[in-house]
Amino acid sequence: MKKDISIIILSAGKGTRMKSDIPKVLHQICGKPMLCYSIAEALKLSDDIHIVLYHQADKIRQTMDGYFDSSCLNYHIQDHSNYPGTGGAVMGFDTKHSQTLVLNGDMPLVDANELEKLIIHSDEVVKMSYLELEDATGYGRVVQKDGKVVKIVEQKDCDDKEVAITQANAGIYCFDTAFLKNSLPKLDNNNAQQEYYITDIVAIAIQEEQTIKAVKVCEDSFKGVNSKYDLAMAEKIMQESIKRNFMLSGVIMKLPDTIYIDSSVQIDGETILESGVSLLGETIITSSHIKTNTVIQDSVINDSDIGPMARVRPNCHIDQSHIGNFVEIKNSKLFDTKAGHLSYIGDSFVDSGANIGAGTITCNYDGIYKHKTYIGKNVFIGSGSQLIAPLSIADDCMIGAGSQVTKDTSSGDLVLNRAKSKTIKNYFYSFFGKSKKQQNTT
Ligand code: UD1
Ligand code: CA
Repeated sequence: MKKDISIIILSAGKGTRMKSDIPKVLHQICGKPMLCYSIAEALKLSDDIHIVLYHQADKIRQTMDGYFDSSCLNYHIQDHSNYPGTGGAVMGFDTKHSQTLVLNGDMPLVDANELEKLIIHSDEVVKMSYLELEDATGYGRVVQKDGKVVKIVEQKDCDDKEVAITQANAGIYCFDTAFLKNSLPKLDNNNAQQEYYITDIVAIAIQEEQTIKAVKVCEDSFKGVNSKYDLAMAEKIMQESIKRNFMLSGVIMKLPDTIYIDSSVQIDGETILESGVSLLGETIITSSHIKTNTVIQDSVINDSDIGPMARVRPNCHIDQSHIGNFVEIKNSKLFDTKAGHLSYIGDSFVDSGANIGAGTITCNYDGIYKHKTYIGKNVFIGSGSQLIAPLSIADDCMIGAGSQVTKDTSSGDLVLNRAKSKTIKNYFYSFFGKSKKQQNTT
């Protein structure tokens, strides 16, 4: 339910520690850019969402336009050259509600239910989140005295004693909007990075003897991503949660640690996923058995068994079918079909009862254009056949093993065009001489 709260998502930083030309918030976790997750959770809570950009702003905005209706979001460009830093990022624009929640765009694990715990009450002006970690390296440290927050010190500004503190600033805060607005002009950049820190607002609140609340949170929802190592660790946490939810809803997984599932995948019914399976993009699996090391991307699989070691590329719809090892399928619809071994089926429609023999290839690409193959009901395609598209094989046809099919067929046809077999007796011995025979028998 939407709350009386505005949300600012900070996404203007350069992300230097990612060591990449890709903006930090566009690095992907479980199939989507990190920033998508913060925006999706923010949309559950607020009708007033602000996203602050600077480095590669156009690229980030264009990417987000592919995921969200831009009329629901307000984009701002930070005055970075004059006011760099997380404090600078929140300067210079208005939020509509009496409370303003500030999120870092590099926290892809955030969850609306957890964020609700930060909503402030009555006399509080700041509610901040902190993590209790074994090692807080990389985070700002929360200095507390007599159980009360005194200040937040960035790692680069810590003295020897402060660096050992294990309470880390999680980087999400809820402010009384009026207090935030009044405090921003009081920020300075008198620190190691010469930046305006949002964390100094907490120090201002303390100086002014305002009420601050610190809420302990956990990394499962509040982990920050600064490096590619953090990215991998955050993805691991999200994978755990995705797989746990599917298993609790009835999906069987063999060695779940070896299975990878993107966040937009849907799985229903009595489904089994064996070890090493990857389910990517907008894949939907219903009541199917996906065997070891199979990869499925942006496809719909229903009541079928796929793999081991099969690859289903985008835009396939496979229903009531058996797809075996080393079969690659792309942009195709298969219904009640068997393709047991070593085949490529691309840009095809395969109707019910068809049997695709081992080594069958739909030759869909002529070097410039992709062409379609239609395979009708009950068609039997012998092993090692090449179906040269565009091609239509009518219902009830047979294709002899090793054939190259270049012309459309009529129902009931047998197509067999392999070269006639020729046998020359004892040719081997006349070619290599008698000695070859002796060598082999000695
Ligand atoms: C920040 C906090 C730190 C906290 C950590 C939690 C500050 C000064 N420090 O540090 O206490 O432990 O988050 O993850 O706030 N950004 C801008 N404009 C800028 C700079 C940054 O919008 O000028 C954005 C970044 O894109 C990022 C977020 O703010 O999404 C945080 O910036 P980052 O540089 O990652 O801060 P940390 O060093 O992680
Ligand atoms: Ca960060």
